[in-house]
Amino acid sequence: MVYALCIVAQPYRAFTPGEIWKDNKGIHINAHGGGILLENHTYYWFGEHKTEGREGNKANVGVHVYSSTDLYNWKDEGIALKVEPEGSDSPIEKGCILERPKVIYNAKTRKYVMWFHLEPKGKGYAGAMIGIASADHVTGPYRFIRMTRGNPQTWPVNVLELHKKSLTAEQREERSNLKSNEHPDSVNTLGRDFEKGQHSRDMTLFVDDDGKAYQIRSAESNSVIHISELTDDFLDFSGKYVRAFVGRRMEAPAIFKKDGLYYFMGSGCTGWRPNEARSAVAPSIWGPWTELGNPCVDEGKELTYRSQSTYILPVAGKKDAFIYMGDRWTSDNAIDGRYIWLPIEFEDNRFIIHWYDEWKLSRF
Ligand code: DGJ
Repeated sequence: MVYALCIVAQPYRAFTPGEIWKDNKGIHINAHGGGILLENHTYYWFGEHKTEGREGNKANVGVHVYSSTDLYNWKDEGIALKVEPEGSDSPIEKGCILERPKVIYNAKTRKYVMWFHLEPKGKGYAGAMIGIASADHVTGPYRFIRMTRGNPQTWPVNVLELHKKSLTAEQREERSNLKSNEHPDSVNTLGRDFEKGQHSRDMTLFVDDDGKAYQIRSAESNSVIHISELTDDFLDFSGKYVRAFVGRRMEAPAIFKKDGLYYFMGSGCTGWRPNEARSAVAPSIWGPWTELGNPCVDEGKELTYRSQSTYILPVAGKKDAFIYMGDRWTSDNAIDGRYIWLPIEFEDNRFIIHWYDEWKLSRF
């Protein structure tokens, strides 16, 4: 009985961004850089399971999944994708970097498909790889399938002739040392990575109304966003992709659709430290994308209310209702990271995000 009294934090009846958010066991939710899949009136929240300290930013456990029917109260459903033991030499060996997992459901194969940013152990962020896993049940267990780069040996639909020019050894060397402030086309990172595939660091997945799925990634040394169509089974690239926001250096991509328009949200590149968010709109996922500026409008807007986007969640059963999901990273003690969930509002043909200490779904 005493135990029951101690653990009861639920039911929650409102969102309180930035506060400790306890699951059904009374433990702060551990699903960072996450995304949500809705199935049978239940939301499944997948995210990075972090551990204590700075080392806790690495994948020591795997991808955690929680379920909820009301979005306020979350039940721990366990580890959906487990990392492999140390020394196993698996790409998802304990201690690798596994970030921003997203899960989508493929109706044709009846599989749940997970994509995530994967950096093999001990190599920092140099790999810029993707991990793909799948499962028969939404909560897993997910089976790791493979590690890849983005769209190997494939040019994007808007490739320029300069990208296709072969590189001399000297140019190769020069291009491997891209300075962060250089325009990507001045050093042709696209051509540099053509053979082994494009960089893919921060990423998300988006499924359109017609069932087609897309991977959206920070590519070309984080200088450009690539939007890639997936195959019908969602396990590979179809071969069609586009470069967007060339030279804008963005991370943390998130996409949603309203009234036939595609909206994008992302951040600048400042590691775990927050920065000013970006937003954009397009009539097609292929663009053209028009930037709409920082969607945050209240005090703290310059740092996205000390958060970074990870996903924008359509709320089921409510028209034009979307939730901004952001991470407030605490990189020195990764497990303490907080969640900044705020309603998306629309004003003058753009979306905006106000700060609320506390808010409810009835706001929609
Ligand atoms: C910012 C990214 O958005 C995070 O997912 C993570 O990769 C950090 N950088 C690492 O510094």
